[in-house]
Amino acid sequence: MPIYSSDSDWILETKRTAYAFGLTEAGLLAHRYWGKRLPARGDYPAALETEGWASFNGPSEVTPLEYPGYAGSAYTEPCLKVTFADGVRDVVLTYVSSEVLGDELRVHLVDAVYDLRVTLHYRVHEQYDLLERHVSIENLGNAAVTLERSFSAAWHVPAQHDYRLSHLVGRWFEETQIVREPLTRGTKVLESRRITTSHGHNPWFAVDSLTEPALEETGEVWFGVLAWSGNWKLTAEVSAFGQTQLSIGVNDWDSAVRLEPRETFTTPSSIAGFSSHGFGGASRALHSYVRYSILPHGVQPRKVLYNSWEATFFDVDEASQIELAEIASSIGVELFVLDDGWFHGRNSDNAGLGDWWPDEQKFPNGLTPLIERVQALGMDFGLWLEPEMVNPDSDLYRAHPDWVIHFPTRARTEMRNQLILNLAKLEVQNYLIGLIDQLIKQHDISFIKWDMNRNVSEPGWIEHDEPKELWVRYVEGLYRVWGALRERHPDVIWQSCSGGGGRADLGILRHADQIWTSDNTQAVTRLKIQEGFSQVFPAITMEAWTTDQDASYIPLEFRLHVAMSGAFGIGANLHHWNAAQRLEAAKQIALYKEIRPVVQTGDLYRLQSAFAGPLSSLMYVLPDKSEAVLFAFRTHLPEPVALPKIRLNGLEETAMYRVDGLEGLLSGAALMSAGLEVALKDYGSAVLQIRRVG
Ligand code: GLA
Repeated sequence: MPIYSSDSDWILETKRTAYAFGLTEAGLLAHRYWGKRLPARGDYPAALETEGWASFNGPSEVTPLEYPGYAGSAYTEPCLKVTFADGVRDVVLTYVSSEVLGDELRVHLVDAVYDLRVTLHYRVHEQYDLLERHVSIENLGNAAVTLERSFSAAWHVPAQHDYRLSHLVGRWFEETQIVREPLTRGTKVLESRRITTSHGHNPWFAVDSLTEPALEETGEVWFGVLAWSGNWKLTAEVSAFGQTQLSIGVNDWDSAVRLEPRETFTTPSSIAGFSSHGFGGASRALHSYVRYSILPHGVQPRKVLYNSWEATFFDVDEASQIELAEIASSIGVELFVLDDGWFHGRNSDNAGLGDWWPDEQKFPNGLTPLIERVQALGMDFGLWLEPEMVNPDSDLYRAHPDWVIHFPTRARTEMRNQLILNLAKLEVQNYLIGLIDQLIKQHDISFIKWDMNRNVSEPGWIEHDEPKELWVRYVEGLYRVWGALRERHPDVIWQSCSGGGGRADLGILRHADQIWTSDNTQAVTRLKIQEGFSQVFPAITMEAWTTDQDASYIPLEFRLHVAMSGAFGIGANLHHWNAAQRLEAAKQIALYKEIRPVVQTGDLYRLQSAFAGPLSSLMYVLPDKSEAVLFAFRTHLPEPVALPKIRLNGLEETAMYRVDGLEGLLSGAALMSAGLEVALKDYGSAVLQIRRVG
């Protein structure tokens, strides 16, 4: 049983880690421990009883509170901020009771005066070494209350250390770049204010010691995510008393949730863990959890796809798509995806979004003839949609101009000539569910790329009681639409795209099976984008295509190999590929099909970072260590150069392995300690299979 619960102490244990909190004598719910699992229950430190420091710093400021309300004299970042009907803005949470339901611990707190109940939910994912927290806030009183902040969790790392924060930054065309920086006294804030997760930052953190930094496979790392696809906020605060607290949740910026009597607000989950095997250990824990606990289709193999966007852009029709489909199938593609441009009035990005039926000129007989041809060629058919969006030049907008997010007295700022439908509105949600349901019923569609190509502006919903609920209700609406469609069409595979990786998070992965990592498919840049992405997300979710973006200067084999380290696809104009290039692609696609189970379900070991130099490598290893695949890349290095051997990881020390291209066998220990010589030219790459013998 991984949960120990008394009326004053709680210990949550996973296979290798533990987390503890308890009541102080003064009745504060305080954090006690987060780290390596200890042998005995008595080993975990008691809840700190602190008296405060001075008249300026009382006990609630110097005690690491498990879920601090904005009350009294805490001053540190609160998780909950409430305004009651009488204007009081002070929420005093006291412990009432706790209960254990299977792998979940619930701790009930109430406000000392008002009928507000706050329940802290802790779910122990024992086998993944992860803890999942969320909070439900119930208004049990007779008057409405306003939640001005309701975070999912405060995560405390051990006090009195200097820490380093790792996080992911980016922008469109350059997502998920890894940044590591010292955490100093004060608060570092990372957030999204864009109504999506955003290209700019990802709701993920990893914290390690500044003085004894963790490496890929060694050292201690505390890490976590927020499973939420809208505005989010992370505050990493180092207090004047040596405490470091990472608070994460729905962004409180411009936000409020109004709770009517008897209403409950449930926050999204924050999932976190502790790794004593460096950043690699942290990623592997998240990856397994995502693969086996979150993804709707689990580890069902992701098919090799072809996407026609960069070949034909808006200029699509039945004949051009059939021509591409024929070439795609001849090189081994398994899923043909028709991107933007197929629907009514869509000849550029000026018009059409919202009118989701086949364009009469481009597809006079509808999509069925194309779908049937694609299927006859032995492939599945996939389609691009951007359901949340509308062009002002569309029948939908002309019929429902009030359905978009806007302020009546302000101009509606267009980005890419489009506006955002207000998915917080029930009628909009129901409309989209009906429409997409019909589209899927009428066509044999196996895959949908769900895109979202702008961020919010003029965030108005003024007819609603609490207009600032837009941020939260929009995302809940999106989840409802997507969830309803999933339920009606359980076999469809969905991709989350927002101009590339603008909506990549564990919330969307409860609906989407994979994510379009970036519109940037230049292989050298991709090495970094994919390495950053891999901190959080497993390869099975990381859609990676080979296109023509860098065809003029990077060899095709290198470009294919980079994409083959994820959920592989091709997005090039296949007409431009000559016979030799098509043959090369066919060969690599065949290889990918062989290594697919290892790439898509194996454990990731990042061996050499693309952020550190021109040589990078990574490998995937099946959990039973019987099979592995090594990816090695060399970008540019002036000649002459002696390449270091690549030291592998994750293998069984005493087992013997056969490596592609090597005569004889080598032990796991040799491959991991002495390393493997991989000869690579400038812009050279290798994909090597490694198989246990016997
Ligand atoms: C976004 C996507 C692209 C493509 C275009 C179509 O930019 O990221 O892959 O689908 O939209 O308009």
